[in-house]
Amino acid sequence: MIFRRRRHQNSMMTHQAAWTGMLVVCSLMMVVKAAHLGDSAADNSQTTTPGDTPFYGVMLDAGSSSTKVKIFTYTKGKLPTLIPSVQLLVTKTVPPGLSDFISKLDELPNYLNGTLQIAAQYVPVSQQASSPVYLMATAGLRKLNEEDANQLLSAIRGVLADSSINPFKFLPEHVSILSGEEEAVYAWLSLNYLLGFFSSNMTSKDSVGMMEMGGGSMQVAFLPSAPLYQEEFQVYVGRERFDLYAQSYLDYGANYIRDRVYEVLMEESNTTGQVKRLESPCMLRGDKGKYAGSSASYIEVTGTSDPEKCEGMLIKILKPARDALCSPAPCAIGNRYQPDVDQVPFYAISAFVYSSEALHAIDSNKKLNISLLRENAWKHCTKAMGDPGVTKYGSSNCLMGLYIPQLLTRGLDFPMNTNLITATTKISNTSIDWATGAMLQQLSMAFMDDLDSLTVRCQYGTKPFPLTTLQVTSGSHSVTPSIAVAVALLAVTFVRKLSEYISLF
Ligand SMILES: *[C@@H]1O[C@H](CO)[C@@H](O)[C@H](O)[C@H]1NC(C)=O
Ligand SMILES: *[C@@H]1O[C@H](CO)[C@@H](O)[C@H](O)[C@H]1NC(C)=O
Ligand SMILES: *[C@@H]1O[C@H](CO)[C@@H](O)[C@H](O)[C@H]1NC(C)=O
Ligand SMILES: *[C@@H]1O[C@H](CO)[C@@H](O)[C@H](O)[C@H]1NC(C)=O
Ligand SMILES: *[C@@H]1O[C@H](CO)[C@@H](O)[C@H](O)[C@H]1NC(C)=O
Repeated sequence: MIFRRRRHQNSMMTHQAAWTGMLVVCSLMMVVKAAHLGDSAADNSQTTTPGDTPFYGVMLDAGSSSTKVKIFTYTKGKLPTLIPSVQLLVTKTVPPGLSDFISKLDELPNYLNGTLQIAAQYVPVSQQASSPVYLMATAGLRKLNEEDANQLLSAIRGVLADSSINPFKFLPEHVSILSGEEEAVYAWLSLNYLLGFFSSNMTSKDSVGMMEMGGGSMQVAFLPSAPLYQEEFQVYVGRERFDLYAQSYLDYGANYIRDRVYEVLMEESNTTGQVKRLESPCMLRGDKGKYAGSSASYIEVTGTSDPEKCEGMLIKILKPARDALCSPAPCAIGNRYQPDVDQVPFYAISAFVYSSEALHAIDSNKKLNISLLRENAWKHCTKAMGDPGVTKYGSSNCLMGLYIPQLLTRGLDFPMNTNLITATTKISNTSIDWATGAMLQQLSMAFMDDLDSLTVRCQYGTKPFPLTTLQVTSGSHSVTPSIAVAVALLAVTFVRKLSEYISLF
């Protein structure tokens, strides 16, 4: 549903006259179809209460340890933006994670039935068949090998296609495993949507960037001010297209960094025999941990409260190499391309927030002060467990308090004194996560999908006719354009395409 940009699109039309004919016919068919869709949408809103009648959508957010059932209500988009209004009604968590079923697929129907039964409690029976259900999986399923993942996905599709279990509207493509980048793009959508960015006449300069950190990975997504060379994701909201930069660093999450510190300590400890104990500078004195490493038995780790040594290790781990290997430039962590963050305001969510809050580096306007975080972390990291004010998260706050400033400045190239980073997990009491954005995107695409069912027939020879481009640029992929709007947009697009085509000669 998110399109990674194809870089060199060239339309090689050998039979231009035929192409024009197809264009005319298909455009006319689209006008008819759009008019029809407009009709049924209009009928819909007349048979129910006029105005903001809520529709329903169900998202099954399949994580590694549970599936979250998220029920959304939405009202269809209105002119001029045509952006649906989406609200999270309720979230219910159902353990365990779907990946647990890989060895017991026969128990899957019962488990999914449970999640659907929960959703059905919140959606009126009369609306269930028209309310879509999506299942999107994240990190837990990304770790499965391809064969297991495919087996699990097709078993899930089988269950959801069974109308004796699933009362909601379902299509096979409603089930997917999100990549880290897709998760980032959807979180960016949620964030900017909750901030009201799409509902007003703002320009892309008014959008905010998103960075999030989980246990495993760390993600960044933003609308850069400079042209993008790589990692571009095109997302459609209402009638607008956004060309986003999104990057997922699989191994730079909070838990991974802790383990990486242990690994480096292992490498540095020179003992030829078996290592029995490690001393971590990133852990507070009096704290103990365990590291599995590659050996069979756990290695005990004790803390030494040494911020200077810890920070040095983190800088090495981040490998911010801006050198000849960086192409295209500029680069972030490990020579990955990243356009300048420039003057883009950012929101840092999830694990960026907890330790920064504990170390008093977030002010009353929720702005993150990077240098203050580093300063406070240095003080905190010399303390020991049991000292006044040190909680059970003492060591984790020490590590994150030292890691986040290095990650932001050396890794992602923010200036140390920036005041453009807001750190929070919620906006107007709604958690910022990818699900709202995913729902918004799916609903925005719904109208376009209806048009697609027609345009499949619009092929010339063996090459599919580039009608998707036509719809996209026309903005007709909105949820409920009126007949007049649909016809007008298509007519405008048609004229534009025709003039482009004529200028080919
Ligand atoms: C789904 O769960 C409900 C409630 O637990 C149960 O009544 C129903 O029989 C189940 N359906 C299937 C197909 O298992
Ligand atoms: C944006 O909207 C405001 C009112 O909501 C209006 O005053 C302003 O002129 C609009 N700007 C543009 C560029 O349309
Ligand atoms: C590790 O071993 C190398 C060579 O065996 C030695 O030069 C080095 O000083 C040792 N380092 C530590 C920390 O013991
Ligand atoms: C961050 O905090 C320090 C110390 O309180 C202060 O001097 C500095 O101005 C703050 N920086 C920003 C960008 O607010
Ligand atoms: C925010 O949401 C929580 C539950 O999600 C609720 O308990 C709380 O009252 C809400 N706060 C406000 C100010 O709406």
